[in-house]
Amino acid sequence: MNELPEHVRRNREQWDQWASEYVAAAESNWAQAAPTWGIWGVPESDVAMLSENIDGKDAIELGCGTAYVSAWMARRGARVVGIDNSAAQLATARRMQRQYHLDFPLLHGNAEAVPYPDGSFDFAISEYGACLWADPQHWVVEAARLLRPGGQLVFLTNSYLLTLCVPDDDGLPATNELRRPAFGMYRTEWPTDSAVEFHLSHGDWIGLLRRCGFEIEALVELRPPATATTRYPFVTLEWARQWPCEEVWKVRRR
Ligand SMILES: C[S@@+](CC[C@H](N)C(=O)[O-])C[C@H]1O[C@@H](n2cnc3c(N)ncnc32)[C@H](O)[C@@H]1O
Repeated sequence: MNELPEHVRRNREQWDQWASEYVAAAESNWAQAAPTWGIWGVPESDVAMLSENIDGKDAIELGCGTAYVSAWMARRGARVVGIDNSAAQLATARRMQRQYHLDFPLLHGNAEAVPYPDGSFDFAISEYGACLWADPQHWVVEAARLLRPGGQLVFLTNSYLLTLCVPDDDGLPATNELRRPAFGMYRTEWPTDSAVEFHLSHGDWIGLLRRCGFEIEALVELRPPATATTRYPFVTLEWARQWPCEEVWKVRRR
């Protein structure tokens, strides 16, 4: 554990503590027949995170948490691997696997250094996983290494705009003011917990993804569905109806 980068060690401790708060969501997401995404449950038909035909393909979820996204991919016929930094999150994932008789490898590790050879996967995905909590200079390089040429990487994270507008104060939602500089945005720590997040401007994402060998296919800005609710305090429905609070990047390995 001492060999882990400092942000990975801190995020491991924090996510082992938070894991119990994610059990109920795991149970309902594993039970879902059709995927929904992000904090508002945006339907797959609106965002097409899994538009690739992954039947019979090799897929990896980077920061799989309780692995419901991996389960959705396995049910679509993919040969799935999930990797997560938190043993407690993976304990929930393994319990869900037993309950649903769905077996696929779940690795306890850092998505910045995945123990698989180059070109092992056709598809990689992260929903608020490595794409938020791992260092992009490392996990994007690693995703590019793991994917075969033509393979797709899809990830969903907080929007750039939301990160600019969220106050530091405990539990307060995004405002309609810019609260922090855009230039230099990268590693982000909030005063309310010990985790480390990574947020990039759109220009920085595009630059990094292209340097790592990806072509950008789409940047999808998510809108809450009509009946949306969320348990997360960092944004209101009123805000999210006016501005994107979540964004999905779809990129393809050259
Ligand atoms: C919000 S969960 C994402 C899983 C699921 N999609 C969800 O929304 O609940 C975030 C997960 O990212 C994992 N994580 C954080 N840093 C990681 C890293 N460097 N490598 C792998 N997983 C990581 C955490 O352990 C946690 O389980």
